[in-house]
Amino acid sequence: MLGVTLILVFCASQALSSPSPWSFSVHERRASIPHGWSRIDTPVPTTALLPLRIGLKQSNIDRLNDILMDISHPDSDNYGKHWKAEDVKTFFRPSEGSVSTVMQWLEDSGVNRARIELSSGENWVHVKDLTVAEAERILNTEYHLYQHTDGQARLACSAYSVPSHIQSHIELITPTLHFDGRAPPGKRNTHSPLAKRKLQVSNPDPQLAAADDLSNCDVRITPPCYRALYNIPAEPTIRAASNNSFAIVEYTPQAYIGTDLDSFFQLFRPSLVGSRPELISIDGGVVQTEEMDFGVNIESNFDLGYAMTLVGPGQPVRLYQVEDIVEGSTVAGFNDFLDALDGDYCTEDGGDDPSIDGIYPDPAPDGYKGPKDCGNKPRSHVISVSYAYNEADFTPFYEIRQCNEYGKLGLMGITFLYASGDSGVAGNEELCVFPNGTQSEDAPLFNPLFPANCPFVTALGATQVDPGSTVFDPETAAALTGGGFSNIFALPAYQKKAVEKYYKFHEPPYGADRYNNSRKARGIPDFSVNGVNCTVVALGRTIAVAGTSASPPVVGAMITLINDARIAAGKSPVGFINPAIYSDAFKGAFNDIVSGNNPGCGTDGFESVEGWDPVSGLGTPDFQKLLDVWMSLP
Ligand SMILES: *[C@@H]1O[C@H](CO)[C@@H](O)[C@H](O)[C@H]1NC(C)=O
Ligand SMILES: *[C@@H]1O[C@H](CO)[C@@H](O)[C@H](O)[C@H]1NC(C)=O
Ligand SMILES: *[C@@H]1O[C@H](CO)[C@@H](O)[C@H](O)[C@H]1NC(C)=O
Ligand SMILES: *[C@@H]1O[C@H](CO)[C@@H](O)[C@H](O)[C@H]1NC(C)=O
Repeated sequence: MLGVTLILVFCASQALSSPSPWSFSVHERRASIPHGWSRIDTPVPTTALLPLRIGLKQSNIDRLNDILMDISHPDSDNYGKHWKAEDVKTFFRPSEGSVSTVMQWLEDSGVNRARIELSSGENWVHVKDLTVAEAERILNTEYHLYQHTDGQARLACSAYSVPSHIQSHIELITPTLHFDGRAPPGKRNTHSPLAKRKLQVSNPDPQLAAADDLSNCDVRITPPCYRALYNIPAEPTIRAASNNSFAIVEYTPQAYIGTDLDSFFQLFRPSLVGSRPELISIDGGVVQTEEMDFGVNIESNFDLGYAMTLVGPGQPVRLYQVEDIVEGSTVAGFNDFLDALDGDYCTEDGGDDPSIDGIYPDPAPDGYKGPKDCGNKPRSHVISVSYAYNEADFTPFYEIRQCNEYGKLGLMGITFLYASGDSGVAGNEELCVFPNGTQSEDAPLFNPLFPANCPFVTALGATQVDPGSTVFDPETAAALTGGGFSNIFALPAYQKKAVEKYYKFHEPPYGADRYNNSRKARGIPDFSVNGVNCTVVALGRTIAVAGTSASPPVVGAMITLINDARIAAGKSPVGFINPAIYSDAFKGAFNDIVSGNNPGCGTDGFESVEGWDPVSGLGTPDFQKLLDVWMSLP
């Protein structure tokens, strides 16, 4: 299929080699080379093939926000009226005009019609057997070879242009600028610098008293500590399990260990001993056992242990295990996962950006040979994801396109929960950003996480029980908790009042040289739950871990129990929750967190204050109060 070894690259806008009838406009540009990469001088073979794909502008995409808000705001008559997948598809399908305009442009650029393909979702145009020389001419750019410190190579450009009349018909073109995460096929990467697993060992040997003991929650958080903190029932009544669904996403090689789950269940939910999540393998995803260590097992053990324990044996939990063992070693982009849920998002011949997303069937010797999963996997009402990139890792168009997909799935009634990050106002690996976009530990600008920055997902931070305090005392925001303001996404309407109030009474002491202080940017996180000294069993040991990736599975369990009650009462699942939780109807349903801060980038970060703040968000949830409000809504 993709016979290329050089996949992505770096392109620099250059003079056109032949005269063109059009005036070109730069469509995307990046000023800096992503972290860890450098340009190398080896000339790019002009006959190398580039799997060029043109993402067409979706119809009505500018209306997505308003429609999603309308069905998600409790004051709306349309609250909870989710859309059918077919209606979402039809409404957002690119117009015939966009398809024909883009195809005509390619033909006029000298690409024979037979080499131009339209994806079955009618949203991507693919040019077959395109050489680097042709791509450089069509996009008025120049590709270069780039190398990562770990040895990976990419073909990429630093900007690309299209004729001005084409711009309104396309979202983005790949492979061009977005080359960060993905190794060329078959080239195994040894570490995953970008999408990080987030839980870190905070205490290797916490003393374990009785499992239901609440007196030690300051040194070891357990399921009973979470229940006491957030009013979660110990024995949830499950009534609509077969019509409800809750899923945890893990990226290979991250994997759970069954015997560890059983040890955890033995302590906190003995009736689950022997139970396993329902495995939904995406693109050859496997619960691998070749590599076993804290680094690959803690996250999955934690996520599944807490998710299954908190919802109890009545509600099965799904595991979306994404990527085969070869591709997964780099921890891919989230697009492969989204492709599996929505065929209309998918470029069916494998990956959305082959430099970032997995390529299937995988040409590598040990790769997954089955077809790429494309809209054929079941969607779930609640999806918990404890992985994240830095906002500065990708271009705005790449993030906007994926964010819109979360919005479209939100229209279908799905709740997406993402961790807000573990380095305070800095990004993964403590990286901050220079004004030119380069990421470095020494840079001044705060670096929020992606997709937590997307206003169509729920971004979750972490709190802690202070040393010497109990679950009945107010919690503090954890110093590690990711929070701040996006440089890409605008302030969503649902957050406007909360953010205005924050600025009115607690304006932070930083200027635009530190963060997007325009007051018009998406604030992160939305709310928080405990994420410090959390008990997990891994490799037979009971240890304590810390990180905001504790939050999605715990909140996911709470939302799943609320969905169960709503579905049993003949109501819809809650779907996209942000417009609801910021609304007046939910006043008092959160415990305000008013202390703590999230240092990073050489600063103390932001302060947690009364009301919403870019550290703890709205605070921590009270399950009973949330349930009561949601049961009162249609
Ligand atoms: C970006 O800015 C930093 C700090 O000024 C500088 O060290 C780096 O070389 C710049 N990178 C590029 C690609 O211009
Ligand atoms: C977490 O556990 C460590 C080790 O037992 C302890 O020193 C610390 O106070 C605990 N709590 C927090 C919030 O760090
Ligand atoms: C699931 O939904 C179907 C169709 O609405 C209904 O007949 C059935 O009773 C529901 N089952 C449960 C357990 O809620
Ligand atoms: C800040 O956010 C606003 C709203 O999204 C955006 O228009 C602006 O470009 C951002 N500023 C910076 C410096 O990123």
